[in-house]
Amino acid sequence: MRIAVRYYSKTGNAKKLAEAIADETSAKALPVSEPLTEYTDILFLCNSVYWVGVDGNVKKFIAENKEKIGKIVNVSTAALIESSYAQIKKLCEQSGISVSADEFHCKGSFQMMHKGKPDNHDIQAVKTFAKKIMG
Ligand SMILES: Cc1cc2nc3c(=O)[nH]c(=O)nc-3n(C[C@H](O)[C@H](O)[C@H](O)COP(=O)(O)O)c2cc1C
Repeated sequence: MRIAVRYYSKTGNAKKLAEAIADETSAKALPVSEPLTEYTDILFLCNSVYWVGVDGNVKKFIAENKEKIGKIVNVSTAALIESSYAQIKKLCEQSGISVSADEFHCKGSFQMMHKGKPDNHDIQAVKTFAKKIMG
């Protein structure tokens, strides 16, 4: 089973989760500026919410790599909203990509909010999540 990990992260929070997932897999945590080089069965897509939306670079990555993605597993952080899952699912549906019903979300630090998040607890939790996804 081929696994890939991509992230888009303005302030490092989603990147932390991506690196924790990469620790549990054979894949490297790479930014979405790095296209997929081969077909991947499971893509852990680590992203966050900015001004209520998913960043344009994430949308671009999905559109440009859709032929190489079997399934996306959404992994997100945000300060206020509960997850980017609904937005990612909608984008993927438009591109014909399936999205796992299982997702990971935790709070991410933003200005004075959620200092230190994702914290060690979140890092352990996302590692456990990744192991579960990979069976
Ligand atoms: C420019 C900007 C806009 C943001 N807008 C929102 C928002 O609309 N809703 C929300 O829940 N969090 C918002 N946040 C908080 C981020 O989702 C949160 O800090 C996230 O963990 C950032 O992840 P990153 O470090 O991977 O970029 C915003 C953060 C930034 C920097």
